[in-house]
Amino acid sequence: MGEGSNHHAIVFGASGLIGWALVDQLLGPYPHAGSFSKVTAVTNRPLTRSDAHWPEPGSHRPNLQLVSGIDLRHGDAAALAECLKQVVQDIESVTHIYYLVFTAVEDDIEEVTTNKGMFQNVIDAHNLLCPNLQFVAFAGGTRGYGIYAPGGTFTPPLTEDMVNNLPPSHAKTVVYPAYRELLDVARKGKKWTWCEVCPDAIVGFTPNGSQFSLALHWAQYLSLYAVNHGIIGSNPPEASNTAAVEIPFPGNSASANSPFSPVSSKTLARFMIYASLHPETCGDGRLFNVADNETPCKYGEIWPKLAKWFGLVGVGPAGNMQDQDNTLKVGELPQTTPAVTPGEYVAKYRDTFAKHGAVNAASGGVGVGSRQLDSVGYWLTFDRQMSLQKLRATGFEGDIDPVQGWLEALEKFRAAGLII
Ligand SMILES: NC(=O)c1ccc[n+]([C@@H]2O[C@H](COP(=O)([O-])OP(=O)(O)OC[C@H]3O[C@@H](n4cnc5c(N)ncnc54)[C@H](OP(=O)(O)O)[C@@H]3O)[C@@H](O)[C@H]2O)c1
Repeated sequence: MGEGSNHHAIVFGASGLIGWALVDQLLGPYPHAGSFSKVTAVTNRPLTRSDAHWPEPGSHRPNLQLVSGIDLRHGDAAALAECLKQVVQDIESVTHIYYLVFTAVEDDIEEVTTNKGMFQNVIDAHNLLCPNLQFVAFAGGTRGYGIYAPGGTFTPPLTEDMVNNLPPSHAKTVVYPAYRELLDVARKGKKWTWCEVCPDAIVGFTPNGSQFSLALHWAQYLSLYAVNHGIIGSNPPEASNTAAVEIPFPGNSASANSPFSPVSSKTLARFMIYASLHPETCGDGRLFNVADNETPCKYGEIWPKLAKWFGLVGVGPAGNMQDQDNTLKVGELPQTTPAVTPGEYVAKYRDTFAKHGAVNAASGGVGVGSRQLDSVGYWLTFDRQMSLQKLRATGFEGDIDPVQGWLEALEKFRAAGLII
């Protein structure tokens, strides 16, 4: 065991897009054997160890405790502290909190209140229980740069200082400023410090769905499209249709061609862990943009590579989608969308998954996030790439190919029975 063998990480939202990757990396073990001795993964919905698809236990990995059924919307900090004391072994030894819980609520202001309340309870409960707490890390996002306003708010590259200039009318609809405030108050007189990471689109695996996983949404669409066109799932495969099957980008050309900075959940998780082990340079409430590559990419470049993985030919937007409409808000679709969006297509053919052995696809989709994910190709029509200067100055790992994260997620989705 190394110098950090007394480190105990607790991950809230461990079944989610970022939380799953955090536990996966901690067990990896990242950054190296002995960095952590214990990992506690907390989920709301039930999840078993085998359904989670994390690495098998091993002497070089930290011990994992999986605690399910913790709904943070109920009760206060004292009640949560009591509950955690009962269900988490050695809760008092927790040194690092990674907070990745998010609940989407229809009304933005109510969403802020609900999410702030949950995080406040988690922090207050740990302040009561964990005298050795060292670091808290949470994920914000580019919503904090005002990207939900039609056409965006700031001229890119987006730099971390811009969050301070978010117009108040927008700032009150985003929970991240409230998180910063509550952490600054809660750490007064304590030994721990904190940081925030800012991802744009996050690409990765989740075992039982995720509210806003674009990779899962598009993967299920492409998978069913390939099956319905005889490209995959045919028996025998030789009998399948060998003619090229084109699939248009589900959006317009402005969205296909606007630069942005996606991040794989693996990179994001690794940086959160890295930051939490470098409190002097990454703590003190610092905010870091995190992406896979300093060179921005475009959905129009990624789409053909994803389609190819399914044996399809990804092409540009459908003919009637060449027009650009910069007035759409998040979640809005133009009047002239093609007949069927990815979400509608998946809903229509969902039964096909089980017929081809993808037994977890029906329950493990994107759920409430489906419409917002359908709209990604229509309202994200503006440049929104992030500066990675501050991230690179920390000494964290360098650039990787952003497509790698998509392809790794696709492999995992198939292995977990979420796509065909
Ligand atoms: N998805 C993206 O591309 C993206 C991009 C930028 C920023 N972000 C930000 O990243 C953060 C995490 O998002 P994500 O994409 O990882 O979300 P996600 O995949 O939907 O995960 C959310 C997690 O929150 C948990 N959760 C929800 N309600 C809960 C409750 N009442 N009590 C306890 N746990 C609860 C869920 O647990 P169960 O599944 O067990 O219910 C799940 O593990 C959010 O702040 C989000 O805005 C996401």
